[in-house]
Amino acid sequence: MNVVLFMTFLFVTYELVLVSSVSKYNAELPSRITALSGSCVQIPCRFNVSENSLTNTENIFGFWMKKNQSFLSRESIVFNGSTNIIKGFSRIEILGNLSQRECTTVFYDVMNNHSDNYYFRVETKPSVWKYTYTENPINISVSDSPQPPTLKPTDRKEVMEKITVNLSCSAEAPCPKQPPTISWSNIPQSANITTQLQEKPDKTQSVFSHMTFKASYMDHRRNISCTATYPRNTSNDSTVETTVMLRVLFPPKETHITIDPSASVSVGTNVTLTCKSKANPSNDMVFFWHKCGNVENQLDFGEQLTFTVNRMSGGRYFCIAKNDHGIQMSEEIQLIVAELSVPLIAGCVGGISALLLLFLLATLLRRVQKAKPSSESIVKETDQVILFFFRGLKDRLLPLLTRNIIKSHDPYEAIDFSTNCTI
Ligand SMILES: *[C@@H]1O[C@H](CO)[C@@H](O)[C@H](O)[C@H]1NC(C)=O
Ligand SMILES: *[C@@H]1O[C@H](CO)[C@@H](O)[C@H](O)[C@H]1NC(C)=O
Ligand SMILES: *[C@@H]1O[C@H](CO)[C@@H](O)[C@H](O)[C@H]1NC(C)=O
Ligand SMILES: *[C@@H]1O[C@H](CO)[C@@H](O)[C@H](O)[C@H]1NC(C)=O
Ligand SMILES: *[C@@H]1O[C@H](CO)[C@@H](O)[C@H](O)[C@H]1NC(C)=O
Ligand SMILES: *[C@@H]1O[C@H](CO)[C@@H](O)[C@H](O)[C@H]1NC(C)=O
Ligand SMILES: *[C@@H]1O[C@H](CO)[C@@H](O)[C@H](O)[C@H]1NC(C)=O
Ligand SMILES: *[C@@H]1O[C@H](CO)[C@@H](O)[C@H](O)[C@H]1NC(C)=O
Ligand SMILES: *[C@@H]1O[C@H](CO)[C@@H](O)[C@H](O)[C@H]1NC(C)=O
Ligand SMILES: *[C@@H]1O[C@H](CO)[C@@H](O)[C@H](O)[C@H]1NC(C)=O
Ligand SMILES: *[C@@H]1O[C@H](CO)[C@@H](O)[C@H](O)[C@H]1NC(C)=O
Ligand SMILES: *[C@@H]1O[C@H](CO)[C@@H](O)[C@H](O)[C@H]1NC(C)=O
Repeated sequence: MNVVLFMTFLFVTYELVLVSSVSKYNAELPSRITALSGSCVQIPCRFNVSENSLTNTENIFGFWMKKNQSFLSRESIVFNGSTNIIKGFSRIEILGNLSQRECTTVFYDVMNNHSDNYYFRVETKPSVWKYTYTENPINISVSDSPQPPTLKPTDRKEVMEKITVNLSCSAEAPCPKQPPTISWSNIPQSANITTQLQEKPDKTQSVFSHMTFKASYMDHRRNISCTATYPRNTSNDSTVETTVMLRVLFPPKETHITIDPSASVSVGTNVTLTCKSKANPSNDMVFFWHKCGNVENQLDFGEQLTFTVNRMSGGRYFCIAKNDHGIQMSEEIQLIVAELSVPLIAGCVGGISALLLLFLLATLLRRVQKAKPSSESIVKETDQVILFFFRGLKDRLLPLLTRNIIKSHDPYEAIDFSTNCTI
């Protein structure tokens, strides 16, 4: 067994040595590149030669040929650098300094029928060095529509609110002389964008745009698009787009109450209060109902609070929405029981009724003096007194409640709403 292994090792080693000795000279160029028809394609290229082949050289010429042919045929040459003869292309230009072993080349106005494998060849004069880099072809494929830009990260991972998000969009620039322009649409408010031409590891270029922003709950489900526009010489500009949908996790926002049928109801009416809130996730959202002045800490759970109005139903209600990421308290809403004044006058319960009675008496007296009493105006002015009373209470309560919400780390645990509301 060991002998077999050793033999295998020897064989593999021999193979490796053989291969590396064969590929003594090589050219470094991407193995494939996708070009856009009507534009140009720039091939980044470097080559190596024997030790002193470039030292006693007056002239060095570069060639490009199609197909892998060990013998040179006139048909396979697309660019002859010694005579500058170009075949099948409108223009080919070697940008690199061949003395520096640089062979970067641009093929202009490429067409679909130019798609092929291309090989670089170098010749020197007067010292003779001729070499075709048959081991290093480049597959140029010419397409009528560019690749859509790449947006990263592509994964639909959700981000927490207030986290800094980085999005990058890159578009290939096979023709760096006419690079694509990148534009973003539907960008978040706080976004900062930087765009630049970047060289990739295989030396081809791409336009790279980087967007940084702070995730807001308003960005949840926002579809951000990156658009690359490619200029073309022989046809219309090409536009390609990639879109990503943001998903932001956030605690309840914009929590508020809606009342059905209205905030001013009469005794016996069925009233439904609905707690509305935006949150993500929203399916695990929990709602709590409170009424100011209620001895019980909490009225009910659930999105809706439904009850039949009685004399005691009037007052200020608020709800609390909660999900995994936090809680939010709604503004208080006031439920007014329209027939409140009638039982109060009759019963004379508590300080409020005493106050009302005084006021009513004063009003009545005024009416008597005017000698034209009107029941309609009495009701109106009574309502104003109730409103005045509640407004004062609200001004004292609200700062207390909001202060506690902000202060405590887990506010819901920390607040005793009943004590706050009964002041
Ligand atoms: C040419 O490059 C190959 C791979 O990079 C290397 O192995 C080889 O030694 C180089 N030859 C010369 C003459 O520099
Ligand atoms: C090109 O052809 C030569 C000889 O015909 C061969 O050694 C070489 O491996 C070929 N190269 C490719 C990339 O096919
Ligand atoms: C380049 O063109 C010259 C002049 O026509 C010719 O002599 C030479 O052989 C050509 N080179 C190649 C590699 O085809
Ligand atoms: C490609 O097609 C154009 C016409 O559409 C022609 O002029 C050109 O010679 C063709 N090139 C090759 C390499 O076939
Ligand atoms: C190319 O490089 C050589 C030195 O290696 C330098 O003398 C020559 O000026 C360069 N040519 C160009 C066009 O830059
Ligand atoms: C576009 O056309 C102009 C004029 O014909 C030419 O100078 C330029 O090199 C062309 N650009 C490309 C990228 O082919
Ligand atoms: C170049 O690559 C494309 C895509 O991989 C392939 O379809 C095509 O046959 C290749 N061309 C040549 C000449 O090998
Ligand atoms: C986003 O980029 C900034 C600076 O460019 C960096 O501080 C931050 O960690 C990056 N955030 C992520 C999620 O990669
Ligand atoms: C955007 O850039 C400005 C100034 O360069 C900086 O003050 C701000 O904090 C940046 N915003 C983000 C979200 O990175
Ligand atoms: C974003 O796109 C998705 C899928 O196309 C769609 O369901 C969603 O409603 C869009 N978001 C907005 C804010 O339009
Ligand atoms: C170029 O755009 C013009 C105007 O938008 C249009 O009429 C024409 O058909 C387009 N040409 C091509 C080749 O798409
Ligand atoms: C109010 O609701 C109760 C049961 O929830 C129902 O019996 C009653 O008829 C309702 N009253 C009105 C006026 O809709």
